[in-house]
Amino acid sequence: MTQSTPSTPSFSPPQDEGCVKVTYKGKTSKLPVLSGSTGNNVIDIRNLQNDLDLFTFDPGLGTTASCESKITFIDGDKGILLYRGYPIAQLAEHSTFPEIAFLLLYGNLPTRHEYNEFVNRLEEKSLLHEQIRNFFNGFRRDAHPMSILCGTVAGLSAFYPEGTDTSNEESRDVSAVHLIAKIPTIAAWAYKYSRGEPFVYPRADYSYSENFLNMLFARPDAPYKVNPIFSRALDRILILHADHEQNASTSTVRLTGSTGAHPFACIAAGIAALWGPAHGGANEAVLKMLRSIGSKENIPEFIAKVKDKNSDVRLMGFGHRVYKNFDPRASIMKRTCDEVLAELGEHDPLLELAMELEKYALQDDYFVQRKLYPNVDFYSGIIFKALGIPENMFTALFAVARTVGWVSQWKEAFNDPLRRIYRPRQLYTGPEERDLKGAKHN
Ligand code: CMC
Repeated sequence: MTQSTPSTPSFSPPQDEGCVKVTYKGKTSKLPVLSGSTGNNVIDIRNLQNDLDLFTFDPGLGTTASCESKITFIDGDKGILLYRGYPIAQLAEHSTFPEIAFLLLYGNLPTRHEYNEFVNRLEEKSLLHEQIRNFFNGFRRDAHPMSILCGTVAGLSAFYPEGTDTSNEESRDVSAVHLIAKIPTIAAWAYKYSRGEPFVYPRADYSYSENFLNMLFARPDAPYKVNPIFSRALDRILILHADHEQNASTSTVRLTGSTGAHPFACIAAGIAALWGPAHGGANEAVLKMLRSIGSKENIPEFIAKVKDKNSDVRLMGFGHRVYKNFDPRASIMKRTCDEVLAELGEHDPLLELAMELEKYALQDDYFVQRKLYPNVDFYSGIIFKALGIPENMFTALFAVARTVGWVSQWKEAFNDPLRRIYRPRQLYTGPEERDLKGAKHN
């Protein structure tokens, strides 16, 4: 089978949109304003240091474009999310996850032939080297799946030393496909290990999502019958989480990749960044929060705590750094949630509590004024729970999906003519230079 890298379509370079003049201490710097194909224009500040001996200050990098990218576009005010120009709602409705992986990686939707070839490549690479089974034994049975995922993905780099050759486009493509193919197997085995159950191997006759569910739930004594509504729901969740522009974990992957590190190490860094409750850990945190609230009567007391400036309680699954009116992924997720629960025919008290909490918060001035709306994670945890996926696996599922975005962004960075090692500056507020003499106690 050939392993050709599909060609990426070309797009126009940034356009010059005039300049901004900054004058400081009698000197002026002319900073070009660049426009992309859509979205905010950016001020190119690269001359600022040379011209004025100034850096810029932007904690959390909320107003800084750290790179040029052609992959994902978000308009947070309008609630728009596009993958390679296609609206997320259309993709979630009409595509499969491997199709999205191809789109994000190569820039265009695959032809039927390209799709079949790509799916075959993913199937072929989904097995793990048998020695990797030994990695799992090194972990405690109660290890968090994210620590197993992070450690195992980093450890896999030892099995693919050729991945170190990041200067070679074909080698980068092989690493990207390996990562997308193997990550569900590692995640599913992390779960199996925690339960003391035998590992289930990937099967060529299952789709990506069917395979994942089967590896999670099949047992030698009880084969698992994949429900198509569940595998479709999982596929949709994976699509919705596949990429999200320059978020914390993607920026971590780009930053690590900028040093030329092994791709598996870069993705392990992304997994570590995703783990935090302010990022990928939020869906797990939503369920913990719902459980701690317990029942509808306790909602007002909980919301009062969230609003109290002296408490650090947050309404998990609400708010977003970028989406300030609604999260376009959340509405698709809510619909998927309804489909799964209807299929199960179950009445879930936690879901009812979630719906009540959502209603309450959306009517409260605190959330309205700050434009805090439910984000994708408010619902994804509830769907995972309905599918029988345990809470500590939620972020691992997010990592499986986001691996596609990470490797696409990592690969894109290599073709950027402006590629440099990430090295931000700082505003230093510590002590000025001082003498050690007299300060040291002997
Ligand atoms: N609950 C209560 N108050 C909040 C929340 C929340 N979830 N989110 C923001 N605020 C308040 C915050 O206290 C601040 O209030 P004030 O202006 O009075 O100081 C104001 O809203 C602005 O918040 P911010 O901290 O400047 O917002 P941010 O852009 O830095 O944070 C966030 C974004 C996602 C970290 C935050 O909204 C949050 O912690 N949400 C809960 C965790 C969560 O659901 N995360 C998943 C994000 S979606 C998945 C992903 O894409 O990674």
